[in-house]
Amino acid sequence: MKILVEKTKEPKKKPSSEGLSFGTVFSDHMFLCDYSPEKGWHNARITPYRALPIPPSNMTIHYGQSIFEGLKAYKTEDKKVNLFRPAENIKRLNASCRRMCIPEIDEKFGVEAIKALVDIDRDWIPEEYGTSLYIRPFIFAADPYIGVRPSETYLFVIITGPVGAYYKEGINPVKIFVETKYVRAVVGGLGESKASANYAASLKAQVEAKEKGYTQVLWLDGIEKKYVEEVGTMNVFFVIGDEVVTPALTGSILPGITRKSSIELLKSWGYKVSERRITIDEVFEAHDKGMLKEVFGTGTAAVISPVGELNLDGKVITINNGEIGPVSKRLYDTITGIQYGRIPDKFGWIEQI
Ligand code: COI
Repeated sequence: MKILVEKTKEPKKKPSSEGLSFGTVFSDHMFLCDYSPEKGWHNARITPYRALPIPPSNMTIHYGQSIFEGLKAYKTEDKKVNLFRPAENIKRLNASCRRMCIPEIDEKFGVEAIKALVDIDRDWIPEEYGTSLYIRPFIFAADPYIGVRPSETYLFVIITGPVGAYYKEGINPVKIFVETKYVRAVVGGLGESKASANYAASLKAQVEAKEKGYTQVLWLDGIEKKYVEEVGTMNVFFVIGDEVVTPALTGSILPGITRKSSIELLKSWGYKVSERRITIDEVFEAHDKGMLKEVFGTGTAAVISPVGELNLDGKVITINNGEIGPVSKRLYDTITGIQYGRIPDKFGWIEQI
């Protein structure tokens, strides 16, 4: 499909790389593509970043038929632009489409659309190590209708913006509250999709955890509230003795791309990695026995985020003296090294623009 391009006549001022936060500044252009049952996906275009005309009857507003993705573009020292495993994001977008009754997009076309948009706004990619251009593809229902059924029309949009660290802590360990009152998802629900609704479901717990001084919550399974699931903005890993454990993808956990890459790297380094069910009690018992060496999260926005403290119903444990541990550090250095082109890409994860 051809992508029509309308360039902005009023380029915005770009922020400096220093002190960039996450998700507040957006680049000059956006990508749009429409879906109708008659034409399929059509009318692909890049336009100046601007507000979308949405009628109050738009189905997404009422019933939340909306999904998204997140990936990043990195500027290398020789000014090349690297994308990290973009086809994986489009594959996962399509998995979310299937669960949410949204028509899938062609995988190659999805990657092409990302590349075309990033190429037009390549000057928006900040250059400092640790900063990047965050890319947010999303699809939402476009029918003006308030009966409950899947929409017939959709809009596929991509926006981008320069970002720094997702957590204000940066690479320093975050404090996480283990959530035992609210649940995020159950098997058979939306948990493994990147559905906007999952994030809406997480807000109440996040607000209450923040009030107690915690950065995020660690979700447990929605039925027994016993098994560890994920953090919502990242998947979670535990280094227990010489085993690296991460919860298995049982159907209610997001299949993270940084999660998958971390598992591949750890295995290539000879670590014993187990994707299995793990109870929160096992984590706390491992700590009591001195076996819990590290806890960290993985995600596109979060990269590798060490966890320095866990609070389970008032029992607080400090992990690795609240410092980043060797496994988290090696993963962080290697993944970011590959992303910024400082370490050879042995796995073929990078696509250059
Ligand atoms: C990402 O890591 O890209 C995410 O989508 C998490 C988040 C900021 C919602």
